[in-house]
Amino acid sequence: MNSRTPELAEELVHAVRGAHHLVVLTGAGISAESGVPTFRDAQTGLWAKFRPEELATPEAFRRSPKVVWEWYAWRRQLMARVEPNAGHRTLVELERRVPQFTLITQNVDGLHQRAGSRNVIELHGNIARTKCFEEDTLVDRWEDTGEVPPRCPRCGGRLRPDVVWFNEMLPPEAIARALEASRACDVFLSIGTSALVHPAASLPFEASERGATVVEVNPDDTPLTAHARFRLRGPAGVMLPALLAALGPASG
Ligand code: OAD
Repeated sequence: MNSRTPELAEELVHAVRGAHHLVVLTGAGISAESGVPTFRDAQTGLWAKFRPEELATPEAFRRSPKVVWEWYAWRRQLMARVEPNAGHRTLVELERRVPQFTLITQNVDGLHQRAGSRNVIELHGNIARTKCFEEDTLVDRWEDTGEVPPRCPRCGGRLRPDVVWFNEMLPPEAIARALEASRACDVFLSIGTSALVHPAASLPFEASERGATVVEVNPDDTPLTAHARFRLRGPAGVMLPALLAALGPASG
């Protein structure tokens, strides 16, 4: 198959074209072509010596708040330099075409919203938001005293990124909406995720157990691959535009 114009199974195209409720779950892979490192590929640059599991935990923050804050500050600076890619933009177009569309993301990079996706369920938070580590409430401005991490203007506690760390609960409302949509959809697209981190990884199984058609978009195999009805084995930035083209012109 030529990766430029992949031949897509007509059954797959027919299933997506006829979807009444399409749920999409994305992971770091959809942002890879924007230049954002994924988690389980090698960390690039300054932080090559750390593993995310050593940085993205409450224990790591208690132990080394400055290092953790600066890792996220580095990632925020990276976010400021990257743009959404064709994969993100294809999902914006699909949202316009499908009668009911739910986008669930594990990513904290905000690229779906920047591409124009309107209704994004952020299971793991968003790196652009900051909250108080003590109060667990959002903080949108604080005095820059030079202290790292900065302090909460209300209680003086340390500030942290509004992202879900390992051993932390997901935002209850987000996971409830994601489960509800996954159980109600007729087509489920899993894009750019290693399908290893729960509860997000359980969502395609919630869909397939209720008869939904599950499609995986990933250059590599994952624990979901054997359970997916179809798979587009390639980068999201190539496969999603090819899928959209195969759907034909928007109706109406
Ligand atoms: P991973 O880094 O675990 O997996 C990225 C997946 O994307 C892999 O399966 C790659 O094969 C695939 N991939 C790479 N390039 C791609 C491309 N161009 N197009 C499509 N797929 C591509 O990232 P996630 O699955 O998102 O959790 O990781 C899940 C969670 O683990 C993250 O949200 C984070 C991490 O710990 C928290 O921070 C709580």
